[in-house]
Amino acid sequence: ENNKPQIITFDKIGSSQLGYITIAEAQKNIPFDIQRVYWTYYTPQDVIRGGHAHKKLQQVIFAVSGTITFNTEDKEANKEVFILDHPTKGLFIPKLIWRDIQFSHNAILLCLASELYDEKDYFRDFEEFKNY
Ligand code: TYD
Repeated sequence: ENNKPQIITFDKIGSSQLGYITIAEAQKNIPFDIQRVYWTYYTPQDVIRGGHAHKKLQQVIFAVSGTITFNTEDKEANKEVFILDHPTKGLFIPKLIWRDIQFSHNAILLCLASELYDEKDYFRDFEEFKNY
């Protein structure tokens, strides 16, 4: 289902002797064309980021290092918790999902996004999102 947040498990190639590689490819294991990539780092453990939803944007998000916890909520008040604790786990987030995000001290978040940055695509007010 493409309207629900869900974990995608990516293959890993390699061995414990040599290390590993994991690959994301548009329209293969990523269900959209990737227009933008960003990463976040050094987020303090006591900070909650996110606090927004998107009108159109789709994302696949990885914790390439550390552990990142997502609390998601859709417009029908369905709430879920997703824990990214391994570099092979990607969280697909479709449009219209509110999310709050918490990071372990060493976490690096990598996001593959379906659109260029557009502040008008954001809901930063929860009530506005719910009433949309
Ligand atoms: P925001 O999406 O609110 O981050 P988070 O969900 O991690 O808390 O973005 C934080 C700031 O960075 C905000 O001022 C907008 C800016 N920003 C860009 O300029 N371009 C981008 O592609 C992104 C994702 C954010």
